Amino acid sequence: MFNKIWKNKEGESSSPLVYAKEDILQHPIPKHVAIIMDGNGRWAKKRALPRAAGHYEGMQVVRKITRFANELGIKILSLYAFSTENWKRPKSEVEYLMKLPEQFLTTFLPELIEENVNVRVIGNTEQLPEHTRRAVEKAINETKDNTGLILNFALNYGSRAEITYAVQQIAKDIQNGRLSPEQITEELVSSYLMTKDLMDPDLLIRTSGEIRLSNFMLWQLAYTEFWFTDVLWPDFTEQHLLEAIAAFQKRNRRFGGV
Ligand code: IPE
Ligand code: IPE
Ligand code: MG
Repeated sequence: MFNKIWKNKEGESSSPLVYAKEDILQHPIPKHVAIIMDGNGRWAKKRALPRAAGHYEGMQVVRKITRFANELGIKILSLYAFSTENWKRPKSEVEYLMKLPEQFLTTFLPELIEENVNVRVIGNTEQLPEHTRRAVEKAINETKDNTGLILNFALNYGSRAEITYAVQQIAKDIQNGRLSPEQITEELVSSYLMTKDLMDPDLLIRTSGEIRLSNFMLWQLAYTEFWFTDVLWPDFTEQHLLEAIAAFQKRNRRFGGV
C-alpha cells in the first residue's frame, strides 16, 4: 500500500514501454541529473557472487550511463559513489570500494578525455587513502579544461557533514569580520557548500527500491524531481535513464507557485 503512495505515480515505473532517444530529445532534458547508485550488493547476492562483483559491475554501468548522459546533452551527472556512512562496512569491502576509482579511471580516463568530460568530486577527499586520492586528483587535473558533461562523483560525501562544515566556515568568516550575519542568505549558504559551482539537480534517481536519501544533497534537492526504481544499479540501462527522463518531462514543476 505505502509503496504505491511513495513510489512513482502509476504508469511511470516498470512500464514495458520502450523509450526512444529521439522522442525524449523533443522535450526539455534535465540539466543536472543525480543518481544514488544502489543495489550492487543485492545484485551480487542474487548470483551467489561476492559483493565486490556487484561493485565491479556497477562500475561498468557508470561508464555506460556517463556516455549516454553526454549523448543526451545532460550538463551535469552527479553520482553517489561512497557515503560518509559507508565506512561502517566490512574492512575488505571498504578496501575494494577504495580501489574502484583507480580502476575506473585507469580504464576509462582516456575515453572521458576524448569525450570532453569534466571530472569533479564532492566529499571529504582528505580522508580517502592516498592511492584513491591520487587517482581522483589526476582525473580532475587532466579533465579540468574540458567543456562537456560534468561528471561529479560524490566520494566520502555526506550532506550533514557538508552543511556542518559550511556552518563552521560561515561562523569563522563572521568572527574574522569578513561577513556579517545579515549577509547570510540562501545564496551565501549555497556558496559554502561543496556544490557551490553546480546548479541544483533537476532529477534525482535512486535504484534498488530504497525510498530514502541516505544523506545525499539534502540542501540541493529541495525542489528536485525524484524518480525511484526497483532495478538494481548493475542492471540499470540506457532505457531506464530514458524512462526516468520521460517521467521527469511529464512532471509539473511549480517551485511553490501555481
Ligand atoms: C551501492 O550498492 C554502492 C555503495 C553504497 C557503495 P550497495 O553496496 O549499497 O548494495 P546493496 O544496497 O547492499 O544491495
Ligand atoms: C547510499 O547507499 C550511498 C551510496 C549509494 C553511495 P547505501 O546503500 O549506503 O544506503 P543505505 O544504507 O541503504 O541507506
Ligand atoms: Mg545499498
